[in-house]
Amino acid sequence: MSDTQPQPRKILVTSALPYANGSIHLGHLVEYIQTDIWVRFLKMQGHDVHYVCADDTHGTPIMLRAEKEGITPEQLIDRVHAEHSTDFAGFLVNFDNYYSTNSEENRELACGIYQALKADGKIATRTIEQFYDPVKNMFLPDRFIKGECPKCHAKDQYGDSCEVCGATYNPTELINPFSAVSGAAPVRKETEHYFFKLSECEDFLRSWTRSGTLQAEAANKMGEWFESGLSDWDISRDAPYFGFEIPDAPGKYFYVWLDAPIGYMASFKNLCIKSRQSADGNQKAGLNFDEYWKAGSQTELYHFIGKDILYFHALFWPATLHYSGYRTPTKVFAHGFLTVNGEKMSKSRGTFITAESYLQHVKNPEYLRYYYAAKLNGTMEDIDLNLEDFVARVNSDLVGKYINIASRTAGFISKRFDGKLNPTGNNPVVAEMQAQAAAIAESYEQRDFGRALREIMRLADVANGFVAEKAPWVMAKDEAQASALQQVCSDALEMFRLLTLYLKPILPKLAEEIEAFLNVAPLDWPAVNSSLPAGHAIKTYEHLITRIDPKQIEAMTEANKETMQATTTPAAPAASAPAAEGASYISIDDFTKVDLRIAKIVDANHVEGAEKLLQLTLDIGEEKTRNVFAGIKSAYDPETLKGRLTVVVANLAPRKMKFGLSEGMVLAASDERGGPFILSPDSGAQPGMRVK
Ligand code: 2FM
Ligand code: ZN
Repeated sequence: MSDTQPQPRKILVTSALPYANGSIHLGHLVEYIQTDIWVRFLKMQGHDVHYVCADDTHGTPIMLRAEKEGITPEQLIDRVHAEHSTDFAGFLVNFDNYYSTNSEENRELACGIYQALKADGKIATRTIEQFYDPVKNMFLPDRFIKGECPKCHAKDQYGDSCEVCGATYNPTELINPFSAVSGAAPVRKETEHYFFKLSECEDFLRSWTRSGTLQAEAANKMGEWFESGLSDWDISRDAPYFGFEIPDAPGKYFYVWLDAPIGYMASFKNLCIKSRQSADGNQKAGLNFDEYWKAGSQTELYHFIGKDILYFHALFWPATLHYSGYRTPTKVFAHGFLTVNGEKMSKSRGTFITAESYLQHVKNPEYLRYYYAAKLNGTMEDIDLNLEDFVARVNSDLVGKYINIASRTAGFISKRFDGKLNPTGNNPVVAEMQAQAAAIAESYEQRDFGRALREIMRLADVANGFVAEKAPWVMAKDEAQASALQQVCSDALEMFRLLTLYLKPILPKLAEEIEAFLNVAPLDWPAVNSSLPAGHAIKTYEHLITRIDPKQIEAMTEANKETMQATTTPAAPAASAPAAEGASYISIDDFTKVDLRIAKIVDANHVEGAEKLLQLTLDIGEEKTRNVFAGIKSAYDPETLKGRLTVVVANLAPRKMKFGLSEGMVLAASDERGGPFILSPDSGAQPGMRVK
């Protein structure tokens, strides 16, 4: 791009849809922040840009998570949608629409695409054999089968890969497999599945790849996939499954990854509907879905994704679109993962930091936006958030260099010149700054935000050099230099205005505050060429940002530290009363997360080889009984427990123990005076009742 005022383009941009069963964390934000920066930049350039996203709501993990919480999947996804929306707003990620894949628009589009693929002969059915949980009566995704790694013999590994030695394998290769849902040994069972014939799409995909749609590293990866041959894609799952039922195939559902990217279209379709409904005549009124999505569309479509989901976006997705009559993406931008202090985010080190926790401790989202921008270069390389460097860089660049320009000059304009500026005529620093607009725009356009920031900060250094050389604080002591003082400060504030414009895609809130202080209209890219006019009055300068205190970072990592005890409790001991001294409070929300229920002990037995445990079979009002190991052997004869009612934590994550799977925790009291004493409800309580 060589011009600062290019022709408006019609552009649709997406970020990957986050799953609706977890919180947004700093790793996710690498993607949403970079997409948001790019979109804001394009909007500042005057393009017609729409940024859509949604929650990815379907699939087995979400279904099981809801079940575990004792709520419906719809309740779960509604709650998470609200949480995600709050987190994104907190980081100034400004979607034009944030929707859900569990929507009517998505159902219609997914079914329509499926029917078009079928009509085109691209769907086949095949009988396959899969692992089945005979207790839970469901087929098990690979991730829900665990067992011993066939390579290194590590226990408790997932059905697709070993976290200890990194080997990947089929779940059938696991030694002593068990269902992570019920603990039962899975059986093999035949079932009919629907396949998308990806193997027939190779020629099309090869030419799509050649048309410059992918970064070089991604195109290389595609080459490897072509080399090893494309297999047909299994797009169906059997009931029970939370998703869309396949038309004319009762009991068969679209695999979550079939309807997830269609969620991009659905979110945009929903935006089109809203734009037609809105009577305020804004620029989005009359958005036309077909103009953006039908084959032959002249608009641009960009997907930002993590490199781990390239396969879905560079193979399945363009093929699905192409063979169902839709346009294909203009480009797919894959990025790397986030490391913190050079390592994978870790709960034990406190570096698995949620969006909410960052905002609670560091407060200002723009610090993270700035730091990520400084590290991003448009490639698939991983980026590192070094927490010490984060503090140093934000404090030195934003506070020390950028804001410093205004804080050292604005006061003189307010106090001495009634807030009025002199016209900036021919200051060479201002001219140099303006001359860099095209190069900075090019870096933004290429998503090389690191390069853009290096140039912007170089210009901030030049501006600071100008202020230091002129030393307005010295001029201010000499009345004869009043006019020169006004000129220097006016020039410095013009430099500050230009830097603000250049930084605005990254620091939109700060830019808005500075626009108010400078008393100017919202800055867009063409405003590079118009400077603050003669006699323009600014508002009084007020403190704009504060330095990060390293203590805030310490508090954040401390708060995110999960003790190893909490994640790997080896057995299921009876809960003991917390020490009163030093006990910390929890919120009512935290308390209500614990699902306490009345349980009837229908069976109780000794466990061979276990010193402290009894095995209890509990009726908690569900179809299936629960198996729980409780450390109460020292106080109870199993025979006396049979038929008793007690209280159980029903939503404790099941734990695989040496003796089997423990699916809850029985509450009991104990301290140095005795115990354990298991809790009993008053008469009248029934199994399954909630304890609140
Ligand atoms: O990997 C993930 O987190 C998926 N939920 C991303 C889906 S992106 C799109 F295809 F929907
Ligand atoms: Zn292994």
